[in-house]
Amino acid sequence: MKVRIFDTPEAVASALAERVADALAARPSLVLGLPTGRTPIAAYAELRRLHTAGRADFSRASTFNLDEFAGIPALHAGSFRAFMDRHLFGAVNLPPARIHFLDGAADDLDAECARYEAAIEAAGGLDLQMLGIGANGHIGFNEPGDELAARTHRVRLADTTRRDNAPLFGGDPANVPREALSMGMGTILKAAEIVLIATGERKAQCVERAIGGPVTTRLPASFLQLHPRVELYLDRAAASRLRP
Ligand code: GLP
Repeated sequence: MKVRIFDTPEAVASALAERVADALAARPSLVLGLPTGRTPIAAYAELRRLHTAGRADFSRASTFNLDEFAGIPALHAGSFRAFMDRHLFGAVNLPPARIHFLDGAADDLDAECARYEAAIEAAGGLDLQMLGIGANGHIGFNEPGDELAARTHRVRLADTTRRDNAPLFGGDPANVPREALSMGMGTILKAAEIVLIATGERKAQCVERAIGGPVTTRLPASFLQLHPRVELYLDRAAASRLRP
């Protein structure tokens, strides 16, 4: 894994946005995998800025978000779809037909997962997957456990993850759905390139274990060690437990 350490979270955000803008310039029909969470918010703001400055053209790109809460419609303010509309989609020139999302309100959630997996295949696979990391080492909503699902699937969310996502649901973890839909580890690892961003002291331990520890289902991000083209963009706090 290629690790790049930046002085501040803002520097991480702008490096990620530049990385995406460069990828779009090199391949205008880029198929981009997108994360939610607090960490990428600044990178999305930076991408909006680059778009306004004429340096990030999404007109031929496609996007697939990693995950979505189960049981809530896209229009719900707490949905990841609403998050993406707020932070990116509403301000760049992505054609709506090429914005792909899991529908957490679908009648048949298993069929919805199969549909999504097929849609990624039909798009030619993910060229560049952006990732955040949960404080427990989850990526997407692939939570630590005895086993990890390879393909897009339903997940039961860990209590810590529901607490972390409470701000989207009025601050009360009890309001956070218990289940979600997520790309699987195999879906993510099939991306041609992966860039994971992590900022803050809270992520330092899982970053250290993801990079230097064993590959284990107990820390889903550790599976990234198996991928040939992974970059980690970290601020100093998230990198604070790495050996120089
Ligand atoms: C959610 C998302 C993950 C994200 C994680 C970290 O659980 N499903 O994709 O990486 O949050 O969020 P934050 O960046 O707020 O720490």
